[in-house]
Amino acid sequence: MTLHPVSRTAAAAILCAAAASAQAQLGEEVPFITTPDHVTLEMLRIADVGAKDHVIDLGSGDGRIVITAARQFGATGLGVEIVPDLVEKSRANARRAGVADKTEFRAQDIFDTDLSAASVITMYLLPEVNLQLRPRLLRMAPGTRIVSHDWDMGDWQPDRTVKVEVPDKKVGLEKFSRIHLWRVPAPVEGLWCAGGTALRFEQQFQQYRVRLDAPGAPAQRWQGRIVGADLPAPVGGPARAAFHWRDGGLDVRTAAAGLAAGTRFTRAADAQCGA
Ligand SMILES: C[S@@+](CC[C@H](N)C(=O)[O-])C[C@H]1O[C@@H](n2cnc3c(N)ncnc32)[C@H](O)[C@@H]1O
Repeated sequence: MTLHPVSRTAAAAILCAAAASAQAQLGEEVPFITTPDHVTLEMLRIADVGAKDHVIDLGSGDGRIVITAARQFGATGLGVEIVPDLVEKSRANARRAGVADKTEFRAQDIFDTDLSAASVITMYLLPEVNLQLRPRLLRMAPGTRIVSHDWDMGDWQPDRTVKVEVPDKKVGLEKFSRIHLWRVPAPVEGLWCAGGTALRFEQQFQQYRVRLDAPGAPAQRWQGRIVGADLPAPVGGPARAAFHWRDGGLDVRTAAAGLAAGTRFTRAADAQCGA
């Protein structure tokens, strides 16, 4: 564990992070503590990082996550770090690792950073900071992978969590790290129309309930789980349609429930479809 000198008081906060208060400036209080190399590798593996990805590490410390993403997974990356000395160190580390052309390090506050270019976000922050970031993360492109070392996202349950042994872990009492993965779920809440056919979605993060009203047919209801841009047909029970979110519309992927494959639903312009 490496503690940056300006962050010693904050280091105490991470040791009892659960008790840390959610103040407005909390983001500046996250100490510099490095993610061990084998945990970094697992974070990038669980996110399935590859050559097409652009990884943004929020609070990038000495640059290790972005540098590993570039060197071992072929990705491009951006590290955003508030401590200028660490940004300089990251650039030097990237040059040494031969990935200066694939990586960028910026001395910037993560709350001022445009995240839209990322296909993968990584972070090792604090629970309260994760929660402050959550609304922005949820507005990212459906399917964007978000990986957090140790800390969760409150009631936004991860799609996957793995534990990695860290025998010499200095933070907290546990001798392992948790790695959480979320895929930003497509935003489907509300009314969608294809002609006079209506889909009414209620959404809670990755969970949805939908009511289908087609002209001349009884209403059908079902529920399922959103996986990034996909709403796979629920397993078991009557056949249900699968959907795929694309450019703000919902395409029927698998025909069922009277819906033809390829039918495109768009957000309702009025309070009802076909009005
Ligand atoms: C726990 S360290 C993680 C470093 C690196 N991501 C890793 O996993 O090894 C958190 C880093 O976030 C930086 N940080 C804290 N608040 C920040 C903010 N608001 N904007 C940018 N960086 C911040 C800290 O200076 C620190 O280097």
